[in-house]
Amino acid sequence: MLLSMSTSRICIAPSIEGGPAAGTARGGAPESQAQLATRLSLPLWPSEKVADEQCDFLLFYDNACLSLQQNDQGASGPLCVDFEDATLTYRQRHSRQPEAILKALGAKHGETLRIVDATAGWGLDAFVLAAAGHRVDLFERSVILHALLQDGLRRAAASVDERLAVVAGRMTLHFGDSSPRLKAWGDVHPDVIYLDPMFPERSKSAKVKKNMYLLQQMLHDEPPTETLLRDALSLARRRVVVKRPAHAGFLEDIRPSFQLTGKSSRFDIYLTRNSGAG
Ligand SMILES: C[S@@+](CC[C@H](N)C(=O)[O-])C[C@H]1O[C@@H](n2cnc3c(N)ncnc32)[C@H](O)[C@@H]1O
Repeated sequence: MLLSMSTSRICIAPSIEGGPAAGTARGGAPESQAQLATRLSLPLWPSEKVADEQCDFLLFYDNACLSLQQNDQGASGPLCVDFEDATLTYRQRHSRQPEAILKALGAKHGETLRIVDATAGWGLDAFVLAAAGHRVDLFERSVILHALLQDGLRRAAASVDERLAVVAGRMTLHFGDSSPRLKAWGDVHPDVIYLDPMFPERSKSAKVKKNMYLLQQMLHDEPPTETLLRDALSLARRRVVVKRPAHAGFLEDIRPSFQLTGKSSRFDIYLTRNSGAG
């Protein structure tokens, strides 16, 4: 399995407890700093063996949320996968317009699709898909993002908000490069495969959201998977949906069947006709 190749140095920092949520719904960290370091094979910080400048990013439990922060003076605050986040919840419950990503799926009214999100990242798009009733398999090759997602899904599944727990139950997380998994798929073929690969744009402009900026900083030297779209096209029963910045070229230079274009990003939609097992 080809794992995350990033050269960013990540260290495990001590947990932080005592914020507003501590001791209430979230409780304490589910594992100690040492356990987390052992599980992810990452160095402890601070320690005699690891100098401060050897850690580009810090990973730690912040009030029971596994969180990532750049180890830099002036860096933004820590980020975690929080499906209870107010913005996301608001977007789910009060949006009058269906999300563009849902339009891009092309599902019929009331239809439940089987979707593969082959580039899971923070899991935000996958969450929107699962909240709309679809079953989503998420693939993430970065060991850090996978750990953050695993933690976010664990908390969502245990949430007192039953609706959130149900949505989390529709999301299945897998670790590793999705490309070989798509090539060797042995299960019922997914209806739709969703791709949102990293785009090499690292300016800290207001247009780049804080969470995507952090990803770009940490994973900037990860090579793109050269055949991801081709692999997806040969597997998806109905379509492959690719999210791209509005100005970007086509992924793998393959022209889509049609596009849904927004202000800063667009969805390139590739219709497929694979019958697939099942
Ligand atoms: C731009 S982010 C995706 C953001 C995501 N759509 C969201 O809503 O949070 C791209 C992610 O895809 C992952 N990735 C890129 N290529 C991959 C591959 N071949 N297999 C698995 N994960 C991949 C990267 O590690 C990164 O976390």
